[in-house]
Amino acid sequence: MSRFFSEKYRNLEAYTPGEQPRDMKYVKLNTNESPYPPSAGVLAAVSAEVDRLRLYSDPESTEATAALAALYGVKPSEVLLTNGSDEILNFAFMAFCDATHPIAFPDITYGFYPVFAELNGIPYETVPLAEDFSIRVEDYIGIGKNIVIANPNAPTGLALTLSEVEKIVASNPDHVVIIDEAYVDFGAESAVSLISRYENLLVTQTFSKSRSMAGARLGFGIGCEALILDLKTIKYSTNPYNVNRMTAAAGLAAIRENEYYMANCRRI
Ligand SMILES: Cc1ncc(COP(=O)(O)O)c(C=O)c1O
Repeated sequence: MSRFFSEKYRNLEAYTPGEQPRDMKYVKLNTNESPYPPSAGVLAAVSAEVDRLRLYSDPESTEATAALAALYGVKPSEVLLTNGSDEILNFAFMAFCDATHPIAFPDITYGFYPVFAELNGIPYETVPLAEDFSIRVEDYIGIGKNIVIANPNAPTGLALTLSEVEKIVASNPDHVVIIDEAYVDFGAESAVSLISRYENLLVTQTFSKSRSMAGARLGFGIGCEALILDLKTIKYSTNPYNVNRMTAAAGLAAIRENEYYMANCRRI
């Protein structure tokens, strides 16, 4: 640590990314990547974009946002694309939590949540899992804090039902509930259908796992327009061009070839 490092980060324990070996001797799954390659349209879209790399990317990722909105039956203004879903999770911690708006999440869950909390000076409560590693819904009913839950949870792989998620969201109307659906395509019910009824619900997903694009870094959030506007304020105050041209083009192509990825998920 240098003597210049800000006091506020001196005790920060950074997230340790999963091992990324450089040889290709294995079918690499340790950070839950897909073993299947991206679809043909993604490869073509990325190559076509190379020529335009001298230009900044579209800060709104207009086409990919519209395609995602159509896929999930929401409005484009209810969708925000980010540089992996880690980025939208961090944006959400920044936007909705602070010293007087703490956050709760399960113990055990995705190891980045406490790091986002520490990074942003947010107090957090960890809620133990039940003996069978499931999340006890009753622990979150009216908990009076913001909440982040991975559904299915990681690394347990156990999922809450849509009605269980709804109970948690409905019982905390004055707090934001983030449902991190990084693994939802592998067999859980998405909470996206609830966003029209709950202004406190943010659903996040990623192209890293089910859509074979971990290396492209594309994630997104779906929530009511006001929540998305808040997240955009954070985005435009940090990195307006957070989704690069090749990744936006790849994402659009992947959405158009959604059935290829859903078939891979069923196989996995
Ligand atoms: C539960 C969960 N959420 C979010 C992420 C972040 O994924 P990405 O930033 O690649 O979208 C991961 C990655 O391992 C994860 O396991």
